[in-house]
Amino acid sequence: MKKIIVTGGTGYIGSHTCVELINSGFEVIIIDDLSNSTIEVLNGIKKITGIKPEFYKIDLANAKETFSCFNKIKNVSGIIHFAAYKAVGESVNFPLKYYKNNLNSLINIIENMQEKSFKNIIFSSSCTVYGQAEKLPVTEQSPIIKADSPYGNTKQISEEIIYDTIKSTEYLKAISLRYFNPIGAHESSEIGELPIGEPANLVPYITQTAVGIRKQLRIFGNDYNTPDGTAIRDYIHITDLAKAHIAALNRLLNKENKINYEVFNIGTGKGNSVLEVVKTFEKVTGIKLNYKIVNRRPGDIEKIWADTSHAEKELGFKTEKSLGDALLSAWNWEKKYRNIT
Ligand code: WQD
Repeated sequence: MKKIIVTGGTGYIGSHTCVELINSGFEVIIIDDLSNSTIEVLNGIKKITGIKPEFYKIDLANAKETFSCFNKIKNVSGIIHFAAYKAVGESVNFPLKYYKNNLNSLINIIENMQEKSFKNIIFSSSCTVYGQAEKLPVTEQSPIIKADSPYGNTKQISEEIIYDTIKSTEYLKAISLRYFNPIGAHESSEIGELPIGEPANLVPYITQTAVGIRKQLRIFGNDYNTPDGTAIRDYIHITDLAKAHIAALNRLLNKENKINYEVFNIGTGKGNSVLEVVKTFEKVTGIKLNYKIVNRRPGDIEKIWADTSHAEKELGFKTEKSLGDALLSAWNWEKKYRNIT
């Protein structure tokens, strides 16, 4: 069984990817510092797959801890690197925390890969690197616009670190996946998005409003240049996103990559406005959502959605689930997490 290290594997995207890795016959080893997730997630993965992955609680930004952890793990076929701080707003207030953690973790991982001759890495990047693109949909060749948050900048710099390292060596092979907006939960509702505190993201805020934890959803702006005035994003079901990692990993393991550093947009290729998300949620759940329109949120872009043709052609990857599927799965997860039948 091929062994895959998943850093950040108890996190939202990481845990869903671990499920798909195990279902695809891989042995999974999770490294996480549990700064934004709980160890309970391992039980959720076990309930779904029957397997509880080997787990190391490590601060990957600490070189010594990372080195000693990697010393314990032999014959790794690939690494999927999710572990990073990801709250856009927080990164504006605490930039050094983000640069230190997100960049040192990546550098420590790459150094250990070189030390151990582990060849393959899949990097968790983000459509944030495009900023507000002039031309939509965005392709992998769309210009990388200077990020307006330290979080987004750590993703841009991380891609450059990987690219420059690969240029200087022959053996490392990497794929960066630029995610659009991941939403929803595994169909079993055994794992899902676990925002700590007040959610920044739209869909967990919607489900927490629907379940009564939040009084009202605030829709940030309806004066954008879009059909209904609210901002547009490309919302991808978390299970589709997880499956994209299997496709990318197999491309490297089967040596099908055309060059040693490749980048893919992972989205649905479709944009939906905030109001469309709200209306779809109401339709699939039968719940009337309490919301009001407020001012725009600083730093938000107006609209973005993916040109998915590169991933379709090279990875054979296409999303299968709809916006409604994702929103219903998010609602089912919220109810189960709050013990509501
Ligand atoms: C989506 C839309 C909001 C909350 C961020 C990161 C991105 C990725 C996903 C990590 C926007 C609106 C939101 C609310 C609202 N994270 N909204 N009321 O900002 O597109 O992307 O999360 O990789 O990198 O930038 O996602 O869910 O916060 O917002 O009206 O209570 O919903 O204004 O238009 P975003 P989001």
